[in-house]
Amino acid sequence: MSMEKFDVAVLGLGGMGKTHVGAAKSSPHVNRIYGYEPDPERRAQRASELGIIAADLPEILANPEIKFVSIASSNESHIPLAEAALRAGKKVMCEKPMGDTLEEATRLIKLKQELNGFLQIGFELHYSRLYMKAKEWIDQGLIGKVVNIQTRYLCTVHHPKGSWRSKGKGSFLIGEKLSHYLDLQRWFMGSEPESVYAVASPRVLPYVEYRDNHNITTTFKNGGIGVLLFTAFAAESYHGEQYEDLLAKQRDDGHVLQYLIMGDKGMIETDVFARRIRRWTFTDTGERLDSARDEEIRYPQALDNSWIHNTSGQNKKIIELVANGLPPGVPAEDAYQTMRFCFAAGLSEDTGRIVRLDELPDWK
Ligand SMILES: NC(=O)c1ccc[n+]([C@@H]2O[C@H](COP(=O)([O-])OP(=O)(O)OC[C@H]3O[C@@H](n4cnc5c(N)ncnc54)[C@H](O)[C@@H]3O)[C@@H](O)[C@H]2O)c1
Repeated sequence: MSMEKFDVAVLGLGGMGKTHVGAAKSSPHVNRIYGYEPDPERRAQRASELGIIAADLPEILANPEIKFVSIASSNESHIPLAEAALRAGKKVMCEKPMGDTLEEATRLIKLKQELNGFLQIGFELHYSRLYMKAKEWIDQGLIGKVVNIQTRYLCTVHHPKGSWRSKGKGSFLIGEKLSHYLDLQRWFMGSEPESVYAVASPRVLPYVEYRDNHNITTTFKNGGIGVLLFTAFAAESYHGEQYEDLLAKQRDDGHVLQYLIMGDKGMIETDVFARRIRRWTFTDTGERLDSARDEEIRYPQALDNSWIHNTSGQNKKIIELVANGLPPGVPAEDAYQTMRFCFAAGLSEDTGRIVRLDELPDWK
């Protein structure tokens, strides 16, 4: 049987665009790869560096050979580009966040539904082997009913002055960065957030307008609770990719990216900087509840990409879904609920009060 092959386009050819191009190159379903940047000079230069074909947006949208478009541009352009691509009949993958406002995200969902289009948002931690393993253990019932999820994330954010990220305001970082980690809390809890109380400290980074420290506490509809503690500054700066080479050093130096997923029959810990996932089982001995560590998986540095931020694996999988005429692996409606969670946390920080999720619009 011959395999279906088609052309694809990547919109936005910065750091993440390079990863999207790499994923497309590694897919057996892809023929030609086109790339778009608004500035023609930068477009030509990046296309040449990445070994793809430079093309203008109208050209990409009108080309019937291009079936799949992935969007890796800066956040404010996600919605207009995704809308244009869906309207042109393309299957679309778009990086998070899903818009700068919930109204925009709602508009995008409605358009996708109206056109019966294909849209997946880049919450690629659903493809991370580390977090897939945690989800697998939860679904197997190995820790019972999930009751409490604690996420601790201490890192050094090294967005340079003057970049589009540095221009973000208020709760920008919740959508831009923490959306991944709130998304995982929803996924692991298997329940929607009911209310959220979030506070942010005065900034550490003087040259940004967004809040760079967040404590976000959530109650879920199933009675479970979650907390996400984030600081953008801890320990020694490292000016390369956060997860490469110096991971062990960074861990020793105070970097943390850890989930404790507590169930009523056991607990799971994921630890990015220790490169491991562990699982405990609680047993009623008759006298007391005993805890024993049952499983531990460690992975080598060479596998960091697939065990942590598996964007490449995600995109390759999405292209395979498109080739086989299948729907998205993670529905855009699911990503929308994570964005709603993020906006609720932002509203709580803005108002200093507990925000119920049902105060915010839903696409339904
Ligand atoms: N999923 C993840 O883990 C993850 C990680 C990093 C970045 N991202 C997301 O990927 C996107 C890009 O991030 P990045 O780190 O590559 O940023 P970047 O600044 O390196 O690249 C962004 C590129 O988009 C281009 N651009 C701006 N407006 C455009 C438009 N209208 N059309 C096409 N291109 C346009 C810019 O010229 C730039 O080349 C962001 O939305 C970011 O949130 C996701």
